[in-house]
Amino acid sequence: MFETAKTVATDPLIGLMELYGEDRRADKLDLSVGAYRNNSGEVFIMNAVKEAEARLVKNQTSKSYVGMAGNPQFNAAIENLVLGPLSGDGAMVVRTCQTTGGSAALRLLGEMIAKINGGAKVWVPDVTYANHVPILAASGCRIRIYPYYDPASSELLFEQLLTVLETACEGDVLLVQASCHNPTGANLTRDQWRELTEMVVRKRMLPFFDVAYLGFGEGIDEDMAGLREMAIAVDEAMIAVSCSKTFTLYRERTGAAILFGRDRGSVDRAFGNLIDSARCMYYMPPDHGAAVVAEILTDVTLRSQWERELRHMRERLKSLRTALATCLERFCGDDRFAYLDRQSGMFSLVPVAGRNSAQLREESGVYVPADGRINIAGLAESDIPMLARALCRTPALKSGRS
Ligand SMILES: Cc1ncc(COP(=O)(O)O)c(C=O)c1O
Repeated sequence: MFETAKTVATDPLIGLMELYGEDRRADKLDLSVGAYRNNSGEVFIMNAVKEAEARLVKNQTSKSYVGMAGNPQFNAAIENLVLGPLSGDGAMVVRTCQTTGGSAALRLLGEMIAKINGGAKVWVPDVTYANHVPILAASGCRIRIYPYYDPASSELLFEQLLTVLETACEGDVLLVQASCHNPTGANLTRDQWRELTEMVVRKRMLPFFDVAYLGFGEGIDEDMAGLREMAIAVDEAMIAVSCSKTFTLYRERTGAAILFGRDRGSVDRAFGNLIDSARCMYYMPPDHGAAVVAEILTDVTLRSQWERELRHMRERLKSLRTALATCLERFCGDDRFAYLDRQSGMFSLVPVAGRNSAQLREESGVYVPADGRINIAGLAESDIPMLARALCRTPALKSGRS
């Protein structure tokens, strides 16, 4: 049977990681993989996580099964973190399932949409996280694309977004990244969230929020403000949460799928469909990452330590953005990269798509995927001049066609 298998295209980021591993240059720079590095280039573990892990090792007495929805303390704490005051609002019914990372939350929610309302279209921004369309399409969702970002001006295409979404039907699903948009770093303003909310309510669409960089933009509550404003205005919504970056738990595969609505019976039935997908796919999620997050979020000391560490990461990320934009202005002689400082989160796009990214890799040892997404959180301060010089040398920039 295996001989009849067709070759499947591998994730291009994995190919780039392999090339990087084989590269013998000492001053090579990997800006492709989405992990937060400290100034020494390490993908470190937060101290709050290390402390929570030590407590778990000491106090855990059983590895017995927990249940298909996972750890109830984790689920309650994540609801509270994401929804804030809304999670205790008696008018809303909230159901949460712990998942194996944000990816499994996307998959379970996608399958739930396809099972409950196969006719619904799921509207996805152009551009978006590289796995959104593959995961949602594999879940059985019907994908439609809405305009989001113009790489030429480095601005959102908000008017075009509204125009295209006018063609959506009642019951269609709108996928929105709550903050720190991957890969553009360009986010809706508060006014734009309001305008989009008005449209979602008027057209009776269903918001599907993806929360993967909570706390990396302006702060925990600030990053969730748009989501909460839209959530309170609609009858039903769903959220995929990833704890990978926010808790430095990447390989522990920790996340959550949240449903909320106003009618208890409907939310419970939808949640039953979601849990059934988990049962048929992997039965129960792994324990460790969620137990760590629950320990952190339910302990006053650990929580404030985690918030301090997250604030430090956020502030460092902002200062890296400012330093990179300033350095690029010096090297390029104009402010075409000023947008890097206005955007937020780990990623932004630079105009080195396609063969320019290969040239950047071959000539300067800078590893950037073909879409031009750079992981600013992968930089050390000392890398910035080298990156700026390399970017300014790429043909598209040299000829001013960026
Ligand atoms: C926007 C977005 N959603 C979801 C995910 C998936 O996260 P996880 O690694 O927890 O599966 C990512 C990961 O990079 C992401 O960028």
